[in-house]
Amino acid sequence: MQIEMKPDRKQVAVGLEARELEWEFAPTRTVRGYGFNGQVPGPTIEAEVGDTLVVGLRNGLAEPTTIHWHGLRVPAEMDGTEMVQRPVEPGETFEYRFVVPDAGTFWYHSHVNETEQLERGLYGALVVRGPDEPVFDQERVLLIDDLKLDQQGQIAAFGDPHEQHAGREGEVRLVNGTQEPELDIPAGQIERWRIVNAANTRFVRLSIGARPFSMLGTDGGLLPAPLEAKEVLVTPGERVDLAVGPFAEGELVEIEALPYDRGKGESQPERFATLRVGPVASSRATIPDALRRIDPLVAGSAEPTRTVSLKALMHGGQHQRDEPVRVGQLQVWDLVNETGQDHPFHLHGFFFQIVEENGEPPPVVSWKDTVNVPRKAQVRIAWLPDDRPGEWMYHCHILEHHAMGMMAHFAVIR
Ligand code: C2O
Ligand code: CU
Ligand code: CU
Repeated sequence: MQIEMKPDRKQVAVGLEARELEWEFAPTRTVRGYGFNGQVPGPTIEAEVGDTLVVGLRNGLAEPTTIHWHGLRVPAEMDGTEMVQRPVEPGETFEYRFVVPDAGTFWYHSHVNETEQLERGLYGALVVRGPDEPVFDQERVLLIDDLKLDQQGQIAAFGDPHEQHAGREGEVRLVNGTQEPELDIPAGQIERWRIVNAANTRFVRLSIGARPFSMLGTDGGLLPAPLEAKEVLVTPGERVDLAVGPFAEGELVEIEALPYDRGKGESQPERFATLRVGPVASSRATIPDALRRIDPLVAGSAEPTRTVSLKALMHGGQHQRDEPVRVGQLQVWDLVNETGQDHPFHLHGFFFQIVEENGEPPPVVSWKDTVNVPRKAQVRIAWLPDDRPGEWMYHCHILEHHAMGMMAHFAVIR
């Protein structure tokens, strides 16, 4: 008899302690924040597809918390919501343990009192690499965020009724916990940037000095092929992977958000960081023509199996419950937004594909877990519940909307 050798699954063990800290977001400017292991953002967790991630969370805060693994197809019990676990009380610990099944750019964040805990800094990136990733000269993770300060320069109080409706945006624009940092890149090189929008509400229509870049991936990993663009809208919760460069020595490139109207009027162009191009270095980067194969879940037109009215969701209050879905049964959901503002819709634990936006197919098929549904628009998504029964949820990733009840729980059943 032949004994099949299973490849050894590597274990990645991480300790994360949530605790208060003095967050120095700019030279000589600090606020009282929350961080994992004393830093904002928390440490970037890196793993390879198939690894087992073991995270020991210790709650050193004065309030309960949990960790949600945004975008990871974990078992329901590991999802970090209050539906599947008791919040971790001050002084307590909890162990998260799961296999990371997909390559991509993910993130982790608190899922209790999120409007405050994320604003104060309880989030970090999680990078999972596949066996044949494209080769670049350098890779970086950029977590985009903003911070709302009060007159005293401390984090502004929470619970402003205006914020509940409009969301919370702050004037301090952050990349990796630092206000408008300066980044360095050698001339002639091409880098892979993994970008996460970790802001409570702020939409980022990202431009890198109006230069073309290649979109390599979205929430759920690589695209079928690189897509040339000069800008990309990244709403709260979303990720994009970009191939950036090459630039010429001496250039100064602004990384900024272009004006966008999410239903609250057109914003101003706003800088998040500056890229300073140094002396030339040799490059080994190659952007392949094809990245991976993604089969569409839906061929041609499909009858929706469910309609999710974002307006009803917005006004439905806490603890809304949607119908269960059955493992293996294709879901085709129409997300209908009749409200006056855009809402980034996020599904926990499963990837979906965008089938159409206002009747039009998207330019490329990709895996997503968060999609912006523009105001007065409709987005049709398709997803297949794989065999991970339990309690799941979807919600608007404008955290103030989520907090006021723009969410629903549902069960995945066998
Ligand atoms: Cu980033 Cu409930 O999610
Ligand atoms: Cu999530
Ligand atoms: Cu919303």
